[in-house]
Amino acid sequence: LSLVLPNFGKYLSSNNPLLNCTTSYMRTGQSSARPLCLSHCGLSSRNISTTTDYPEFKDLEEIKTHDNLYKFSINKPEVFWSRLARSRLTWSKDFTHVMKGDFLQGKMEWFTGGTLNASVNCIDRHLKTHGDKVALIWERDEPGTHSVYTYRKLSEMVGKIGNLLLKSGVKPGDRVAIYLPKSPTAVATMLACARIGAIHSVVFAGFSADALAGRINDAQAETVVTANQAVRGGKLIELKKMVDSAVTRCPCVKRVLVYNRTEAKVPMGKLDIDMTKATLGESTDCPVVQRASEDTLFMLYTSGSTGSPKGITHSTAGYLLYSNVTFKHVFDYRDGEKFGCVADIGWITGHSYVLYGPLSNGGTTLLFESTPVYPNAGRYWEMVERLKLDHIYLAPTSLRLLLKSGDEFVKKYDRSSLRKLGCVGEPLNHEAWEWYYNVVGERRCDIIDTWWQTETGGVCISPRPSELGAEIIPGMPMRAMPGIKLGLYDSEGKEVKGETGEGALCICQPWPGMARTIYNDHDRFLKTYLKPVPGVYYTGDGAHRHKGGYYQITGRMDDVLNVSGHRLGTAEIEDALDDHPDVAESAVVGFPHDIKGEGIYAYVVLKDGRTLTKKELEKQLKALIKSKIGGLALPEIILFTPSLPRTRSGKIMRRILRKVASNKFDELGDTTTLSEPEVVDFIVKKHKELT
Ligand code: PRX
Repeated sequence: LSLVLPNFGKYLSSNNPLLNCTTSYMRTGQSSARPLCLSHCGLSSRNISTTTDYPEFKDLEEIKTHDNLYKFSINKPEVFWSRLARSRLTWSKDFTHVMKGDFLQGKMEWFTGGTLNASVNCIDRHLKTHGDKVALIWERDEPGTHSVYTYRKLSEMVGKIGNLLLKSGVKPGDRVAIYLPKSPTAVATMLACARIGAIHSVVFAGFSADALAGRINDAQAETVVTANQAVRGGKLIELKKMVDSAVTRCPCVKRVLVYNRTEAKVPMGKLDIDMTKATLGESTDCPVVQRASEDTLFMLYTSGSTGSPKGITHSTAGYLLYSNVTFKHVFDYRDGEKFGCVADIGWITGHSYVLYGPLSNGGTTLLFESTPVYPNAGRYWEMVERLKLDHIYLAPTSLRLLLKSGDEFVKKYDRSSLRKLGCVGEPLNHEAWEWYYNVVGERRCDIIDTWWQTETGGVCISPRPSELGAEIIPGMPMRAMPGIKLGLYDSEGKEVKGETGEGALCICQPWPGMARTIYNDHDRFLKTYLKPVPGVYYTGDGAHRHKGGYYQITGRMDDVLNVSGHRLGTAEIEDALDDHPDVAESAVVGFPHDIKGEGIYAYVVLKDGRTLTKKELEKQLKALIKSKIGGLALPEIILFTPSLPRTRSGKIMRRILRKVASNKFDELGDTTTLSEPEVVDFIVKKHKELT
């Protein structure tokens, strides 16, 4: 094990069975996974066009290809980013410095001296010429129902909500917790915050009241925006009830705005404001608060390997520019197209590629409120046909789920409008890649496997941009985005040189979209991202670099789980389990799951003298996790054991727990040095009984 990088061995691709087929293909060159040369419109060798794609570089003779552009972006980042910033964003005051600080100092600033407003960039500047263009297509949970919102309509909603927030006492820099279903109201509330200079903190509406309370208190949010109910997959979710329960533990909350998603009447208390009624009398014209480039646009909580979730904090200018530029070039988004990112706005994907990227480009973006299987596994494809979507951007987990339902659900709908098929959040395994490419995309569409994180603000690795027709290899996001300098580091923190290699994935140069800090805990930010390998940004993921310099992600190197593309810390789940009065201690690990990517496996040690049966306890433990975190953190398996395997110095041997959970009994290694070696035999036996 590493002296420098914790858990270093965990990244190895052999630990991730979902990757093995692709990896072995890379080694053996099996024909079913050959590199694909895709060509569109006969433009198979099209070079970069500085006139249409990157007009800001058209005077530069040296930029003729994507390769040239990439090298330029790395060698002259200040020229590269300042030209893009001035041409892609609208500023109320131009910036004086492009970039200050570095990873060693632990502080990065971009575009200082400049001021701008994100809502102006996402709405106002499009109104004159594109006021009647559709900004949002809201695909409601109820199958077959959608409604459209033009830029003008969105602007009016933002104005009214902005004025309501102002009137309620929300000031620039205040945090506003948003706990809403994916809806035009949610988008308008986020943009209203941006307009008046407040910081939005969206909490995924699938998180429990406890999880919401933790995030509200950490951010010291005085304002919460929620809905009476949410509707998902035909089921009603009592959002307002959750907020009522959360707010009893949040003394900082002064007001709760309630949007009526359904007809249901919910009890309203003295903090509550009916948003629909209250916005009726508000003007659609809301004054704009200009923000300094480095002012925080939003924070978003995400899980780490230890402790409570971290409030990842993003800047106004750098984030907005990065989501704008990556949206345009990763997906080759063209004016007039309909972009269908199905992620919830409670995740970073929803922030960058439902809202800020598409709207700052004047695009048309989808708000998908439902699930991939409601009313059946044809939901996405029926929607593609009805809405004529040009792009779809989803998580591999939903592909793995849908492909099991058979091709008929896909084939009965016309998908000829689709041009690009994107995915994000976890490795896109070989079978899912092939199905996406062959069945969904009818071998016409590029598969855009994008790697990035809440912390990176936008896509950092993706097969595009690159020359159309350039190869796309299944199972890997491949190419670094312009401005992103990638590096691999070994267990001692030394760079892995050479064309191919394996190691900890790091980003070696600052980029505008990166998170600036963890809210109220800059030391944790430094410790997590900038100190593990001094001088670079440490992603926490492992990667392979293949021939051609293409990157393949092998998974997290820390104790963070990726369950259906959702990031969860094992420590958070253990904390919830340990709260049960009968639990002495617990250890949670991930194991390979053919749909979710990773499943949750909990080993639980009970205290002596309890009276409940194990069955009853299991029920209570699951209920506890649901109430402390949310249904997304429920373990597949709970194994009760008299103790956990430990080293003689008392450290829990998670490696052994992971191997047992993954059925890799012959890889347990030497267990004789453990303090109680017999416990391993016990958990292996119990595991076999349970599975
Ligand atoms: O482990 C990587 C995985 O998701 C993590 C980031 O999770 P989150 O911050 O929730 O953001 C997800 C959406 C941007 C990464 O550290 N991950 C993300 N994309 C990929 C991926 N793993 C493999 N391949 C990807 N394309």
